Order: sequence, then C-alpha cells, then structure tokens
Amino acid sequence: MKLWSGRFTAELDSLAEEFNDSLRFDKEMYREDIQGSIAHAAMLGKCGIIASAESKAIRDALTAILEDIDRGKTVIENAEDIHSFVENELVSRIGDTGKKLHTARSRNDQVATDLRLYVRAHIDALIERLKTLVGLFADKAAAETTTVMPAYTHMQKAQPTTLGHYFCAYAFMFLRDAERLKDCRRRVNVLPLGSGACASTTFPIDRSYTAELLGFDGVTQNSLDGVSDRDFCVEYLSCLALIMTHLSRINEEFVYYSGGEFGFIRLSDEFSTGSSIMPQKKNPDVSELLRGKSGRVFGALTAMLTVLKGLPLAYNKDMQEDKEAVFDATRTAEISLAVFTAMLEKIEFDRDALSAAAEGGFSCATEIADYLAAKGVPFRSAHEITGNIVKTCIARGKTLQNLELFEYKRFSPLFDIDMFDAVSALAAVERRSVVGGCSKSEVERQIAELKKSISNI
Ligand code: ARG
Repeated sequence: MKLWSGRFTAELDSLAEEFNDSLRFDKEMYREDIQGSIAHAAMLGKCGIIASAESKAIRDALTAILEDIDRGKTVIENAEDIHSFVENELVSRIGDTGKKLHTARSRNDQVATDLRLYVRAHIDALIERLKTLVGLFADKAAAETTTVMPAYTHMQKAQPTTLGHYFCAYAFMFLRDAERLKDCRRRVNVLPLGSGACASTTFPIDRSYTAELLGFDGVTQNSLDGVSDRDFCVEYLSCLALIMTHLSRINEEFVYYSGGEFGFIRLSDEFSTGSSIMPQKKNPDVSELLRGKSGRVFGALTAMLTVLKGLPLAYNKDMQEDKEAVFDATRTAEISLAVFTAMLEKIEFDRDALSAAAEGGFSCATEIADYLAAKGVPFRSAHEITGNIVKTCIARGKTLQNLELFEYKRFSPLFDIDMFDAVSALAAVERRSVVGGCSKSEVERQIAELKKSISNI
C-alpha cells in the first residue's frame, strides 16, 4: 500500500512506479531507517504525543523487524521505498498503533536523517581503514630509510631519495584523507528530524532528545535547510574522490614500476593476473582497476553537485538521486582501500634496481651544484658549471660518478677528492636533513609524526 493513497483514485502507472520507486537501492539503509524510527517513537512517547505503551509497542515491533531482516526472515520487497516498507511492516504487525509512528514526521526529514546516519557510519569505517593504511606505510617506511631510489619531476630522474621517504609521502596524503573525513563528520552529525516536510511541525517534539538517542551532536537549525541540505553528501563524496585520487596516483606508479622497463617492484601472484594469450604476462590488474575506479567516484561527486545546483527550496524528488551516488562511491572507496592495503603488504621492492636507478640519469647533478655553492660559487654559476659537466658526460658516455677528478678540475679548481662523496646517492640523501627531507633521521621523525597523528584521530 502507498503511504499517500488517500487523495488518489487511480493507481500509479506501472512504468512511472518503477521509475519513482527507490526501494531497490534505499533498502541498503534499512538499519538506519529503523534506528531513526525507534528514536522518534521514544521521543513521541517521552513528550506525551503518543502514549508510552504505544511508544513501547512500536519500538519493540521495530526491533523485531530489524532482527528479522538481519536474519533473512523478513525480505525487503513490495514497497515504494525503505520508509514505506518499514512502516507497512510495522502496521501489518501491530495494527493501528503502528500508524502513529509517522506523527510529527515526514519522509523528507526521515530520509535526510537516515542518510546522515549511513554516511556517519561509513565515515567511521573509512577512517579506520585509512588509519590502518597509514600505519602500514609508516612501518614499511621504517624498514627502508636507507633504501635509495630516484625521485622524479616531469617523470625524469631528479634527485635521489629513499623508499622510506616515498612511503611517508603517501602516508601523509592518506592521513589528510582521514583528517578531512573527521572534519566532514562534524557537519554530517547533526539531526534534521523535526524539520517535518519543510516547515517543521506543530507537535511539541523534543529534537535534542532524539538527537541524543541517535548519537548526533546537535540538531539542524532551520527546517527548510534541514530537509534540503545535501552539502554533507557533496563534502563526503569529495573526501572519497580525494582518497581515490591518492590511490590512483600510487597505482599509476605501481603499474609502471612493475613493468620490465622499471622493474622496481614485484607484485605478488595473489594480486596480479595473467593473459589469456601471452603466457609470459603478469599484469597489474588490481592497480589498474584502482586507478580506473576513481572515475566512478568522481562521477558520483559530479552527479551530486549537478542534482543540487538548480534545486529550489526545500525538498524535491531529485534528491532521491543522492543515495545511489553515495552508496556506490562508499562501496568503491571501501573495497579500494581494503584491496590496496592487502596488496601493499605483499609487494616486494627491488632494492638493487632502485639504488641502481637512483644514481643514474645524472640525478646527483644538484649535489655538484650544491658542492660548488657551499665553496662560495654563486648558485646560479654553480648550476651553469654543472650543466656543462653533464653535457660533457653525455658526449663522452661518462657518469658523474666515474668522471675523473682532473676532468672535474677543468670546470672549476674548487673540485677536490671529497666531491665523490657528494655524488653518492646515499650521501646526497643524508645531507637532506631539513624538516621534510629524506635523511634517515628526518624520515624517522616523519614516521613518528605520522604515528602520533593517527593515534590522535
Ligand atoms: N525515497 C525518497 C527519497 O529518497 C524519500 C522521501 C520522499 N519524499 C517525498 N516527498 N516524496 O528522497
């Protein structure tokens, strides 16, 4: 039965009904819907709007419905949306008393409440996943503080760094993602129930009591805004979009790091797949999918912004489109973080390949410029001299490490034997001990900072 059939004589066209119904996707939040209704019924009873025996009967029946759905005894079907389903089920179990549940409430403030409960629960779950991932990066970084590798700019070897420094870079990104979600949670965790359809209600409800029962920090301050605010979905989806961006960036690197040309990492068999035609292949499919999955999460964010941009106050049915975007993006982000964390645990980094690459490609050229600058040559001039050295090395098939000292001296009399220390990758790394740098002690400080930050979230 429709919740609104009183005013109507004809049935809804079946195609229009299929188009209008949201049960097939909003059943995902049955738990939140029932939880919200139990709190609402308790508040109605406490405020004397319904009798306390009625409130109790409603709450007991709702608790039983929840258990029956959880156990698969009650199947969610044959209703317009999850709110109608739960209410119909309640009325079929306890009769007219069940019909009192919707006093002082509208599906408009109800659905806004359900969605906030859903988003809040998933923010908490995502923060936990992110904390695990940041912790894993920090642990891996601690084991690799002297494993040199190239750092790139413009995808060209730029300067030597360490694998520990590289891991910490991603750890800081995912830490920010967790912090961002935590901040977003403050605006999510506000109760819209009591806003009614749009202009609140005439019943003497106690919104703060309902908020307290549901663990909300407060109540929305304006009913027109309360029913129509989906900013929290936009914020949440943008948090997810950034998580996916970060996953996509590192997985882009893993795709080419695992390829023969780089050979920096070996993917474990559990996280790579073969080709149906080329027997030699071991493909980084999981990394590619993680890169690709970002698209659907960005799509959800764009969809949400587009749905909202032209909407007049207050509730409009367009808003029903919020849920599929939020649910799909949530599922995608959760599984993406889980699979990435599991894969990262098993990836092997080839230290020899990384260190061989670290000194190649003239990545220590900055060291020579710095060496001269430290001896008083203005940095611009030191840069130019070093550029000429690199040009000479290229022309003669030499590296910065095997060019002879007398050859160096032709470019500047300030070069001495100690300059060969300057062009060793590990020494170059160790000299970078400023905050943010890649020396062992500085990376250890970063790891401690990461660990402190995750325990504070
Ligand atoms: N299924 C609806 C949604 O998701 C619930 C609210 C319906 N409200 C209404 N006035 N039709 O938005």
